[in-house]
Amino acid sequence: MSLKAIIYENGKLKILDQLLLPEQSQYINIAGVEDGWNAIRKMQVRGAPAIAIVGCLSLAVEISNRSFDNKSDFVHEMEKKLNFLITARPTAVNMKIAADELIKLSHVLDRDEAVAVDAMKRTVLEAIESMLDKDISDNMMIGKHGAGVILSRASVGNTVKILTHCNTGSLATAGYGTALGVIRKLNELNRLEHVYCTETRPYNQGARLTAFELVHEKIPATLITDSMVASLFTVGHISAAIVGADRIAANGDTANKIGTYQIAVLANYHNVPFYVAAPFTSIDLTIPSGKAITIEERPAREMTHIGDHRIAAPGIQCWNPAFDVTPAALITGIVTEKGVFKPDELDKHAS
Ligand code: MRU
Repeated sequence: MSLKAIIYENGKLKILDQLLLPEQSQYINIAGVEDGWNAIRKMQVRGAPAIAIVGCLSLAVEISNRSFDNKSDFVHEMEKKLNFLITARPTAVNMKIAADELIKLSHVLDRDEAVAVDAMKRTVLEAIESMLDKDISDNMMIGKHGAGVILSRASVGNTVKILTHCNTGSLATAGYGTALGVIRKLNELNRLEHVYCTETRPYNQGARLTAFELVHEKIPATLITDSMVASLFTVGHISAAIVGADRIAANGDTANKIGTYQIAVLANYHNVPFYVAAPFTSIDLTIPSGKAITIEERPAREMTHIGDHRIAAPGIQCWNPAFDVTPAALITGIVTEKGVFKPDELDKHAS
């Protein structure tokens, strides 16, 4: 089984089909933007950073196989395709931020008379390709800062027990992971006693993907259902809860996988520190609070069925929001590649 979710070489892109994990490890080819959009929408790739990287790389595949007559054709194509990719899933902001940056870059190159269309294409391709390495190095810094802040609350030499939700690991990013990167780092430092991962209903990213990564990495871990979190906080001596983010508003309100908010409420009640781990590419300083975040609603079938097997009574209506918003007041700290910040300090560290 492979944990490399995204493979890009010489203008060719394949992704690990996450709908088939953990039973099968199968790669699918992404031949262009249409394939990228479909893979993101169907959740063959998911996780905010991975969505942006695969979306942009699907564009890289397409433009690397095409020639452009002039610079304005190229700019027009970039805008059209990137604005389309943003529509695949609305909550995670990473794809939107990447699209805005690439559109801005193509306008700058368009205005520069010294740059010809081929050089413009090459520069944009290089910018997209650099996203893979940048995401991994950001995640390693997140791991370092997150492990540091969690251990700063533990007694010297003591080990910690961590709770996490959804999947934020190698499968959700270019590699290493965000919240799972922090857990990985604690384990590398021999300071992780145990990690608990929630099943993450209805799509089971915790049971299918996080559990898979933890077993693969031989990290001591236990799976719980989402409804066991309160009991775990009562009996489990949990040192901290840490989760990822799909979009963090300027005030620190954080959209993440459905079920995150209730974990934050429970952590608060039980005096367990609650951390969000995310790169700055998940922070949307253009919106003042979580109220402005669009929450994606997914098909009822994700709730009524597991695989082909129906588990819900036929005829029942379903409500399936994929994310919820945790108010900043419940977040102890936001762990980024630049350090750990209070939710209301993010804008000071943005540039
Ligand atoms: O619906 P998903 O599986 O894309 O949701 C994923 C999450 O909510 C993750 O916690 C988030 O994207 C951060 S991944 C590093």
